[in-house]
Amino acid sequence: MRLKNCYRTSDFRQLAKQRLPSPIFHYIDGGSDDEVTLARNTSAFDTVDLVPNVLAGVSDVDLSVSVLGQSLDMPLFMAPTAMQRLFHHDGELALARAADEYGTMFGISTIGTRSIEEVGAYNSAAKFFQIYVHHDQSLTSDLIARCKASNFGALALTVDTVVAGNRERDYLTGFTTPPKLTPRSLLSFAAHLRWTFNYLLRDSLDLPNVSGFGKNGKSAPPSVIEYINTQMKGSISWDDAAAMIEEWGGPFAIKGVMSVDDARRCVDIGASAIMISNHGGRQLDGSRAPFDQLQEILDAVGGDIEVIVDGGIRRGTHVLKAMAMGATACSGGRMYLYALAGAGYPGVARAIALLRDELVRDMKLMGCSSLRDLKPSMLAERRA
Ligand code: FNR
Ligand code: LAC
Repeated sequence: MRLKNCYRTSDFRQLAKQRLPSPIFHYIDGGSDDEVTLARNTSAFDTVDLVPNVLAGVSDVDLSVSVLGQSLDMPLFMAPTAMQRLFHHDGELALARAADEYGTMFGISTIGTRSIEEVGAYNSAAKFFQIYVHHDQSLTSDLIARCKASNFGALALTVDTVVAGNRERDYLTGFTTPPKLTPRSLLSFAAHLRWTFNYLLRDSLDLPNVSGFGKNGKSAPPSVIEYINTQMKGSISWDDAAAMIEEWGGPFAIKGVMSVDDARRCVDIGASAIMISNHGGRQLDGSRAPFDQLQEILDAVGGDIEVIVDGGIRRGTHVLKAMAMGATACSGGRMYLYALAGAGYPGVARAIALLRDELVRDMKLMGCSSLRDLKPSMLAERRA
């Protein structure tokens, strides 16, 4: 597989599989337990069909949305993901460039591999910072102050990772940083020399957003699962979230909300947005898919809070289905991660450009010139 032959997410996945040593590929690709939720996140979009209108006289398509206080040129943005320089040395800066070029937004993870300051100074693309609460309470305040100083437009607090999901692929491949050298992984690193040389020769991997605190992040953690279970605080509460919203004082999303009751509580504590998410099927397997849960959440809180559908998105039509139901915007991880891992910035730019082109083409085929034209009546439950 070559980048110029990549069209769909599964093509970029193939490219990433070719380029990455297997422990790294499976860390991105995998989910928890039996990966039922991982698969359902995407197949949920097949439960409804689009019903287009014709002769609608559409010439130009306006894909603009406003989300988390930022105006975007397309309704799909890049969710925060950890360890990006482990996948490709371009790391987070590839997302910043692509977001700027296509007028979308990207999130930076607390356990990202470029600092808040470096990302903030790099360009003026719409960006938000994703918070993982650590045992060291002062770390959260420090992150919030640094985001304010570096002009991050919004924060997202991830709440579905109070303990690491059971990612059995990671146990089988020995996914650790630095990589554990078993006979099998050695073979895999030797077979992927381009990745291995870049890993050895580029800036060493660290976690600059947490590195000032205790032992955290001076170098990459021994394993992401161990890091989550030892460094992150498992017992955050609604009061903690409310205090963070107050301390930040700007657009604030709660990421990983699934239940209608929790969505209502997010409205009560003054969050600006919820990201309906099960962490891309990496946490609670058997959890409902974000798209399956969308209607119920919209019925309860639609209009009171921005509703972002996160997870499973692989096609422009997936985004249009969520938008027709009434979502504010959509976000995704693997839709750009495989491309980053496979080809760095040019990969991310190609993946986002293809999805943007799909959105424009699909809007025309739907007979819609603006996202506001997409209506629930354009969705029908699929007949068996
Ligand atoms: C993630 N995700 C994630 N979320 C988060 O809040 N902080 C993080 O550090 C990470 N790290 C991370 C790493 C990798 C490799 C993946 C695949 C995902 C979850 C991410 O933000 C998003 O919710 C999911 O990726 C959405 O599912 P899809 O689009 O990948 O199907
Ligand atoms: C993951 C964490 C780091 O999904 O969010 O791997």
